[in-house]
Order: sequence, then C-alpha cells, then structure tokens
Amino acid sequence: MRLEGKIALVTGGASGIGAATARRLAAEGARVAIGDVAEDGARELAGELDGLACRMDVADAISVREAVAEIERSLGPVDVLVNNAGTDRFAFFVNTDEELWDLVLGVNLRGTMAVTHAVLGGMQQRRSGSIVNVASEAGRVGSQGSVVYSAAKAGVIGFTKAIAREAARYRVRCNAVAPGPIETPLLNAAPLMLGELGERLKQGMVNATALGRSGEPEEVAAAIAFLAGEDASYVTRQTLGVSGGLSMW
Ligand SMILES: NC(=O)c1ccc[n+]([C@@H]2O[C@H](COP(=O)([O-])OP(=O)(O)OC[C@H]3O[C@@H](n4cnc5c(N)ncnc54)[C@H](O)[C@@H]3O)[C@@H](O)[C@H]2O)c1
Repeated sequence: MRLEGKIALVTGGASGIGAATARRLAAEGARVAIGDVAEDGARELAGELDGLACRMDVADAISVREAVAEIERSLGPVDVLVNNAGTDRFAFFVNTDEELWDLVLGVNLRGTMAVTHAVLGGMQQRRSGSIVNVASEAGRVGSQGSVVYSAAKAGVIGFTKAIAREAARYRVRCNAVAPGPIETPLLNAAPLMLGELGERLKQGMVNATALGRSGEPEEVAAAIAFLAGEDASYVTRQTLGVSGGLSMW
C-alpha cells in the first residue's frame, strides 16, 4: 500500500472526484479526513472509511483553520492534502456578475490557497508532505460557459507551480491534475442549469477528447493517489491531464 500510516485531507470529499479519492487513498492505507460543506455526505463516507468528517468551507479561511486544527487534534498532522473542493455556475460571461465571480474564485482558487496555507507550514517544519490540487483542463484550454471557472483553474495551475518551487527545499511536493469531463454532479449541472445548451457544451467537451468518452471519478482518483505517494517522489510542479487526451473545445 502506497500511503500506509499517512494522514490525508481531501476537501470536497463528500461527492464525485473527492469521494472517489477519499476511497482510493483509504484503500492505499491512509487515514482520511473529509472536509466539506456537505456535512451529511462527508459523515457517511467517513463512517465507511473509518475516517474523519469535518465541516469546512474552503472559501472561509476561519472555517478552514478550525477544521485543520480539529483534524490534527484527532488524527495527527496532515501528510497529504488534496485540494479538490470546487464549484461552477454555468453562464456566458456577459451574463455573470460580481457575486458569481466571488463565489467561483472564492471556492476554486482562494479555497485552494486557504487550505494550503493552513497545512503547508507544518509540512515544511516536518520536511515532508505532498499536495495535489484538482485543477481542470478548463484552466488550460478555456471553457465556454465557464469563463470565471477557467480563470480560477488557470490560477490553481500557477499556484501549484509556485508552491512547488517554494516548498521544494523543505521536501514538500506540489502537483495538480487537470481532469476533462468526468461524470459527477458538477459536470451534469451544466445541462441542469442551461438545458439543451448545457447538454451541447457537455457533449462538446466529450467530443474534444481523443478517447471519445467522459471519464469516471475513480480514473482521476488513481492519478491523484499516484501523485500523492512515493511512487511520484521525483515529480513536482506538474499538472497531469486526466482528460482522455482532450485538446480543445
Ligand atoms: N466533473 C468534472 O468534469 C470536472 C472536470 C475538471 C475539474 N473538476 C474539478 O474536480 C473537483 C471535484 O469536482 P466534482 O466534479 O467531483 O464535483 P462535485 O460537485 O461532485 O463535488 C464537489 C464537492 O465539493 C464540495 N464543495 C463545494 N463548495 C465547497 C466549499 N466552499 N467548501 C468545501 N467543500 C465544498 C461539494 O459539497 C462537493 O462535495 C472540483 O475542483 C472541480 O472543479 C471536475
């Protein structure tokens, strides 16, 4: 098992890619803490994995610090951080407003910063740790109907590169995954929010993959588990596409 004895924190672990990641890291031997605003889902999964659920709103730095303190009290210092919590509100940019910008940047980009900030100091002191950020191919190719989200995820990719440089001297690694269309409630929110147009946007993403299909959360979780563990001991500052070879849409 690749993560025997490690403590892992997965944000947004109650659903989709985060839940698959929590299950995979637990199967690799980690004790997993799930930080999510969806408390019921987090509790249910933590029960299944003999892990810990805690309420954490990544967009609120106080909530993040309190949750990380609770995790460290209950399980011990965090060895592996997976910044997975994310959200989108599908709309063309001209139809967005500041409230949407704050929400989408707040969860996806500022949230990644807040949780990393709460955990990285300890990792650096212990001279050990691995951070995996869940970005998106939207941050590399740009996604119609998800302009603010694309900007936030591009920010996550830049953040990953810079943290990897700063933290390397403390033997802490930082990488990202860039999923393509993955079958989760988030992906399927586009058809729900935009109807027929959302369905076309989703199909456009699937058609842009070389493999010609959407992915499953477990396929992203496998890449995250690789980056999190010692099999990736010489890998840092990378963004790994887990997108069926998606190039543009
Ligand atoms: N599904 C895709 O196609 C896809 C593609 C690329 C990237 N991603 C990224 O993968 C990650 C996981 O998304 P998913 O598709 O599994 O979505 P999902 O909606 O199934 O899960 C997201 C989880 O994040 C939690 N969350 C939302 N806001 C939060 C907050 N403020 N604080 C804490 N938790 C919060 C939700 O409660 C939920 O449990 C996100 O970062 C998303 O941007 C998804």
